[in-house]
Amino acid sequence: MKLNIAVLPGDGIGPEVTAQAIKVLKAIAMDFDHSFHFTYAPVGSTAIDSHGVPLPDSTLEICKTNDAILFGAIGDPKYDNDPSAKVRPEQGLLQLRKELGLFANIRPVKAYDTLVSKSPLKKKIIQGTDISIYRELTGGIYFGEKQISDDGNTASDLCQYSRHEIERISHLAFKAAQSRRNKVTLIDKANVLESSRLWRKVVTELAQQYPNVTLEFLFVDNAAMQIILNPKQFDVILTENMFGDIISDEASVIGGSIGLLASASVGEKYAMFEPIHGSYPQAKDKGIANPVASILSAAMLLEHFDLFDEAEVIKDAIEKSLKLHITTPDLNTKYDTISTTKVGDFIEDYINNPDDTNLNFTNIHLGQSTII
Ligand code: IPM
Ligand code: MN
Repeated sequence: MKLNIAVLPGDGIGPEVTAQAIKVLKAIAMDFDHSFHFTYAPVGSTAIDSHGVPLPDSTLEICKTNDAILFGAIGDPKYDNDPSAKVRPEQGLLQLRKELGLFANIRPVKAYDTLVSKSPLKKKIIQGTDISIYRELTGGIYFGEKQISDDGNTASDLCQYSRHEIERISHLAFKAAQSRRNKVTLIDKANVLESSRLWRKVVTELAQQYPNVTLEFLFVDNAAMQIILNPKQFDVILTENMFGDIISDEASVIGGSIGLLASASVGEKYAMFEPIHGSYPQAKDKGIANPVASILSAAMLLEHFDLFDEAEVIKDAIEKSLKLHITTPDLNTKYDTISTTKVGDFIEDYINNPDDTNLNFTNIHLGQSTII
């Protein structure tokens, strides 16, 4: 298959983790005889520095003319600490989601058997967890009208949803549940918010089209507790933009590291794949950032084009790396010298030589060679 992929590495650790994902995609292209072509474009703080805006027109155009987008990370502390900043890196990502109509953000949360001991949560609570979060991505409080009074002392953000916005992502969530464990949990705050009551009404009506799927409701405050008390009760979680943002970061604790969680943002026409983690500026260029979320995002990209075998090969290689403790320090208590690049190298090598079980642990550790 021929695929043109727009690569937006972005800020902080974005470029270093994305580089590992590209390495892996190139290995897949070679092994499966595909042709992947990568076009790089700036976004975020990097783009503000070079173009004065977080999403230059040229970047948007590249995104629109390629088959898919691989996104790194966005954000820089110099803007976080300046509430009066007129431009912010995050605006680039939000604009991209809006302009490309990426209304559904799918975030899988899985407790890898090899990592259950890495989570601060008890093994018996998290083992076997397999959740797919469907977060609405182009509406709600993120995109509602924003106001600040002239004296600067009063501010508001409008949370608005239309039936259409709720329906289109809900269909995707119910369809996903049908190929999983047939359960959708809608997370909202319907005891307080009018917009949440609309979500409940619309989703309840729509559920009738999916009689084999059980629909449950949870208030977001309770959901925040249930996710760490009993995560196995969830199959597909469906929720609005901001609740999904918060719940998915919380759920990442189940996997042992936020550096493992990938996501797909899809719309009618375009699709973008990105780790759920931020730009982690403290780790930039230190070689400690976990590239797995980015590599898994690349696997989700392949699945989007029905390249399931290829995605499986990547996931197998990741599982192998976790099993052998070829991981960055966020997960590694055994070795402390395994860098972002080394993890990428191992996964690339393993894809090229999956049958080679003759691993040399000493050399992996020293980073001389992964497979001999
Ligand atoms: C995410 C991020 C973004 C969001 C930020 C960077 C705007 O936290 O993708 O979850 O809030 O959606
Ligand atoms: Mn987030």
